[in-house]
Amino acid sequence: MTDAWTMALSETEYERIEDIRPSGDPHTPPLKNGTQAAHIRGVVITARAIVQSLEEVSGDMEVNHDLLLACALCHDLGKPFEFSPANRVRWQRDPAAGGNPSLRHTAYGAHLAINAGLPEAVWHTAFAHDHQGDLIERSLENTMVLWADRAW
Ligand SMILES: [Fe+2]
Ligand SMILES: [Fe+2]
Repeated sequence: MTDAWTMALSETEYERIEDIRPSGDPHTPPLKNGTQAAHIRGVVITARAIVQSLEEVSGDMEVNHDLLLACALCHDLGKPFEFSPANRVRWQRDPAAGGNPSLRHTAYGAHLAINAGLPEAVWHTAFAHDHQGDLIERSLENTMVLWADRAW
């Protein structure tokens, strides 16, 4: 996971996750308090709490807890790419050439997760934790991350 985030940041101007605007998309409202790293941390903690709460009442849900944490930690891997000021200037200059953006952070995050050799469930969550997942059947871990992400 560290390799994947290192790869994601190294392709852009960003040196730290905290340097990325703390919002869901480059143009949506930012968090009132906290950084993009706080968002990731919040999604991890919230996803874990959702599963713990559900399992406390209903018993084992067969969620893979380690995988859940990996999915939550890596769900926004593609944000450095989508939020990169240089990429945004390039896309805005000529949207007809390659789109604006060419790929959202979801698709690019899946690409990074695949290249980093992360498990299929992690790239699935990177790709499908947002509206892109509406057209496919989501995994259990991804569904928990999606709910946590929407809370944040
Ligand atoms: Fe996202
Ligand atoms: Fe997110």
